[in-house]
Amino acid sequence: MRRNTHFSQVASRYLFQEIRERKRDFLQQYPHAELISLSIGDTTEPITPHICQGLTSISSSLGSEAGYMGYGPEQGILELRQAIATTLYHDRVDADDVFVSDGAKCDIGRLQTLFGPETSVALQDPAYPAYLDTSIIHRGRDSIILLPCTPENHFFPDLALAEKADVLFLCSPNNPTGALFSHEQLATIVQFAKDRKKIIVFDTAYSLYIQGDGPRSIYEIAGAKEVAIEIGSFSKIAGFSGVRLGWTVVPKELHYHSGEPVRADWMRLITTFYNGSSIISQHGGIAALQPAGMSEMRELVSFYLESTGLLLEAFKQLGYEVYGGIHAPYLWVRLQGKSSWDAFDELLRTAHVLTTPGIGFGESGDGFLRISGFGKRATILEAIGRLHRYRQ
Ligand code: MLT
Repeated sequence: MRRNTHFSQVASRYLFQEIRERKRDFLQQYPHAELISLSIGDTTEPITPHICQGLTSISSSLGSEAGYMGYGPEQGILELRQAIATTLYHDRVDADDVFVSDGAKCDIGRLQTLFGPETSVALQDPAYPAYLDTSIIHRGRDSIILLPCTPENHFFPDLALAEKADVLFLCSPNNPTGALFSHEQLATIVQFAKDRKKIIVFDTAYSLYIQGDGPRSIYEIAGAKEVAIEIGSFSKIAGFSGVRLGWTVVPKELHYHSGEPVRADWMRLITTFYNGSSIISQHGGIAALQPAGMSEMRELVSFYLESTGLLLEAFKQLGYEVYGGIHAPYLWVRLQGKSSWDAFDELLRTAHVLTTPGIGFGESGDGFLRISGFGKRATILEAIGRLHRYRQ
């Protein structure tokens, strides 16, 4: 069998796999080094009591005659879909249009299959690397249009560059830059997509981190259901990065040029590719969206944002130009003339701190590091101490 040649167009390792390998090599050389990770955005705090109760009570009931369940609906348990629609979307979307999944990243891959081989996609640059890599693997590099989002354009893309794209992948609050679209900016993007019959894939994995009244969903913009699919995740808000639970909204108002509904194809794809999310994680999700679960998630998010704030202050004190860190648990730190990988290596060698090189998120990310605010508080404080020592 011949290889899918698109694999030769992606880096041989996914960004966070590359970092893991570099960490492993470093630890082989310096086995006693106590590394601190401000790299992959992975949650560190235990699952909170009410949400944990949701997971454990369904787990034990599966061990009883009365409580055992086999396959559930591929789209997800109705109670969870309803809770997502009501609690997170304030009934702006129909439960019927919510598709529960095993996480945002997995749905990004499946969406690429939905779009098929002929589609051209526009991506923010820098962007979460799964958008770029799954796009390349499906259709090759030539199908991709990059939209630079830098401090110089206030992280808002020049939409004229996306004229030839069929699909726009957007993330707000943004991973990696932490930038948040305003209602006005989002309305401009929605209007652009409407006028030119494009589809937006809007990733809101960090929406619970938004401070103030910035848009938490693209569906806050009138008419967005006609042009947008939205992805969400419990990973960063409930600590489900290991439990695995997310969702994708495909509104029935969304149609292809030819008039067919996108939702019908997504339903066909999901029922063919997927047997539904784990019943255990879905019950965790139901608990997370009850009032007690929501307040636990808010507290958890505040904790990570507080840590991010400490890092933000530290980098500022050290004289760096820093973005993000307000509406997202990430800082986007401009390096002073260094390449991303050089700065990554230097911080690893000198401070034993792992970061994520900005170039891993796209060409426009070179010269930046992404710093994650996920971590135990003591570890974050230790990292800050090391950063101060390293700069002196
Ligand atoms: C990140 O560090 O960008 C994320 O944690 C990775 C992910 O969500 O897959």
